[in-house]
Amino acid sequence: MNTEISALLTIFGATGDLAHRKLYPSLFRLFKKGYLKNNFAVIGTARREWTNEYFHEVIADSVQDLAESQDEIEQFTSHFYYISHNVKDAAHYEELKHLSEQLDEKYKLDGNRIFYLAMAPEFFGIIGDMLKNKGLLTENGFNRLIIEKPFGHDLETARELNEQLSRSFNEDQIYRIDHYLGKEMIQNISAVRFSNMIFEALWNNKYIDNVQITLAETVGVEDRGDYYNRTGALRDMVQNHVLQIVALLVMEPPISLEGEDVRNEKIKALRSLRLYETAEEVKKNFIRGQYIAGDDLVGYRDEPKVDPDSTTETYVAGKIHIDNFRWAGVPFYIRTGKRMAQKETYIHVQFKHMAMNLFPSEDVKEVAEPNILTIHISPQEGFSLRLNAKRVGQGMEMKNIRMHQIFDEKTQANSPEAYERLLLDCLNGDPTNFTHWQEVEQSWKYVDYIRQAWDEDTSEPCFYESGSMGPKESYELLKRDGFSWTEFNWDPNKEQSPNDIMPEMTE
Ligand code: BG6
Repeated sequence: MNTEISALLTIFGATGDLAHRKLYPSLFRLFKKGYLKNNFAVIGTARREWTNEYFHEVIADSVQDLAESQDEIEQFTSHFYYISHNVKDAAHYEELKHLSEQLDEKYKLDGNRIFYLAMAPEFFGIIGDMLKNKGLLTENGFNRLIIEKPFGHDLETARELNEQLSRSFNEDQIYRIDHYLGKEMIQNISAVRFSNMIFEALWNNKYIDNVQITLAETVGVEDRGDYYNRTGALRDMVQNHVLQIVALLVMEPPISLEGEDVRNEKIKALRSLRLYETAEEVKKNFIRGQYIAGDDLVGYRDEPKVDPDSTTETYVAGKIHIDNFRWAGVPFYIRTGKRMAQKETYIHVQFKHMAMNLFPSEDVKEVAEPNILTIHISPQEGFSLRLNAKRVGQGMEMKNIRMHQIFDEKTQANSPEAYERLLLDCLNGDPTNFTHWQEVEQSWKYVDYIRQAWDEDTSEPCFYESGSMGPKESYELLKRDGFSWTEFNWDPNKEQSPNDIMPEMTE
């Protein structure tokens, strides 16, 4: 039986898309599993004038597919309350305080409060101040703040925001969400690394040749043209998700899996990323791309709310150097983009060639190839390992084989969603899978140099066709070093087994 947690959750931005798509369904799953039962309440607040009844309808709609009965939905929504709220108006916090106290008593919440900021970041600071000054933080229970990204727009604004928040909350009360850290396979990186001797023993520059991280999306900017045009892929994906993955791959083994120990190692890892302080270094190591029309899809510049001359990048590829003892000399190649050929997130860890090749290649079809450990993050979840063996029959012809553990649909469907895991972690006071301020700071430091070089560069981004795997320059980035992106044979129109989509083998 799961232990019930008592808390009041106040969601700022309760009428928004994130709340509807992710938060309500995640809370509902926690409710079904018994983590939230009798002693919880949720206050939704936003500018719109909604009634409690309407709020309940919206929530019912968002959890409909997960519910077993109308009764179950009603039981759940009965814990939800709505207040129309202008975050800048002090009087509204009085109302919020009053309702919070009432609910605390009604549901026996022991003063435990979580404030979830699912809204535009420019309001984070003022909300933090108001919560403290207007007496919404309790003495007897816990007070935690969950913040959605982006945490600032660059290092300077992130620092300002952090200073502002720290007037009301301590670092250990601030839970900065990076939803990638709630994904099954991202959490599995540490499990695979630190529980398998065959990987951990080889996890360094003696045995690893290069690491490739791909976060490819097929969607364009959708209806977020306005936000995206100010943000670009570097801030939207690299500063957070990509660098978090790098940190987990690079970090030293923590002394325990406690939040503080893991996050200390990640901070050290991020500090070891070589900063590209000059425009030349940025140019040499990072590429920005933008999608143009292709596959019957419009180009980025023709998307709604996008400036027709925009040079905002919808694609980034880069080579990251890690300047520490374990990783010196091993390139970490990253790429992420919109409107790419496939929706697929994966990591390839490519091991070195054997120092001596006993299996000459001239007259045989397949040769011994470097081993690749692939961590499939989504939509496939699991691992695969490329190995070499002898082809059955006479002679010593080689065959590349793949071993894989790909979770089946049922296992995937039963596994908690990223937001569900993260909400539960926050309810339990476990910060491990949230980003510490110093991680955010270090990531902005890294990204800001690149941003600055690009902002000063008046040339066009590298264009790539919608439905491709990015601009040709991103292939040249690896080719220069004698490597190439290991792609998947992916055909979105076909039903495929994990075997079909394994990395293409060299003939
Ligand atoms: C978000 C970005 O953080 O991550 C989006 O703002 C992006 O632009 C999304 O589409 C990708 O997340 P996922 O889980 O679909 O890979």
